[in-house]
Amino acid sequence: MTNDKSVSKFAISRRGLLAASAAGATGLALGFPSPALSQGAPLKVGLMLPSSGTFAKLGQFIDNGFSLYVEQKGGMLGGRPVEFIRLDDESKPETATDNMNRLVGRDKVDFVVGTVHSGVAMAMVKVARDTGVPLIIPNAGADEATGPLCAPNIFRTSFSNWQVSEPMGKVMHYVGHRNVVSITWRYAAGIQMAKGFAEGFTKAGGTVVEELTLPFPEVEFQAMITRIAQLKPDAVFAFFAGGGAVKFVTDYAAAGLQGKIPLYGTGFLTDGTLPAQGAAAEGIRTTLHYADDLNNPANVAFLEAFKKKTGQVGDIYAVQGFDAAALLDVGLTATKGDSAARDAMFAVMGSAKLDSPRGPLAFSAAHNPIQDIYLREVRQGKNTLVSVASKGVADPARGCKMT
Ligand code: PHB
Repeated sequence: MTNDKSVSKFAISRRGLLAASAAGATGLALGFPSPALSQGAPLKVGLMLPSSGTFAKLGQFIDNGFSLYVEQKGGMLGGRPVEFIRLDDESKPETATDNMNRLVGRDKVDFVVGTVHSGVAMAMVKVARDTGVPLIIPNAGADEATGPLCAPNIFRTSFSNWQVSEPMGKVMHYVGHRNVVSITWRYAAGIQMAKGFAEGFTKAGGTVVEELTLPFPEVEFQAMITRIAQLKPDAVFAFFAGGGAVKFVTDYAAAGLQGKIPLYGTGFLTDGTLPAQGAAAEGIRTTLHYADDLNNPANVAFLEAFKKKTGQVGDIYAVQGFDAAALLDVGLTATKGDSAARDAMFAVMGSAKLDSPRGPLAFSAAHNPIQDIYLREVRQGKNTLVSVASKGVADPARGCKMT
């Protein structure tokens, strides 16, 4: 899959960035480090994540993944000590702009890392575009962040909503399903994932017989599960995550539909949730850029270190947090810790090749990961790798114009 024309135009402006990068490096070589650097001041990293509400555990795992990487580097990124400013965004879009402005304006952070919820991320992206503060998104999939609202200072180490859902449409058609119901929360991520799934599924020849939605973060699923039982589709596609995913999967099984009307979704339906879902999750198939049993050295080492630090089993959220720190480290190492040399830093980050626990990770011109999307199945409490559903998937980055 290739980027559209508006993105390939960015190839030209990236050359401009590379020129700026060379200039920044010269400045450093001439020995004019920024005042912050010469004082050995800590780097201020704002972690804007949910630590309450239905996505609380997701935020905690991202934080732990990020912190793990920093600890492995002796408490530093790019050779500078890191100071964290943590803020609970509660997954509430209505307070997101104020929260972000607080981090940037009052706390004067050098970087913001966040968040989980697509609606909150949209507000953060707007502030990042207005203020120029570097923003790394370690989860939220809002397509716009690396689409029409892409910017040189905005990077994502997770996925776009389209990227993880479109491959599932193809998979579900391939395995023989023709009439499918989708169900999700009615907010940016749910709407975009249901749309991405429908794109893959209908292009392959399938029919989405009904699109069920409920407001985020409601978990009263009963009426909709009854509706699914009446419609008797071949299968169901779902996006829920965190506490909501636990409730949906257990309600679905309790209604007697497990195995009768097979349940599919994006991997958030079963990632970080399996201990709470138990047997109700067995057999669910999902697409995601991670699987628990990826047998590469980076994943094996990551899971071991994460377990040692937290006593818990790492998941995709922890991986995305870990990679956000790794990406910052690459950029800051290139500028010898000078966070003010932004153009140079962004150019290096844009062409970074990370050895991620998910597998090799590179970035598109729009700063979204280019990555394999795996088909997984829950087997004995694990998101077990079945196959690579789509190799080297790049979001089309519709509408992205880097300036
Ligand atoms: C999102 O809102 O973009 C979102 C939230 C939770 C997930 C995945 C995506 O697990």
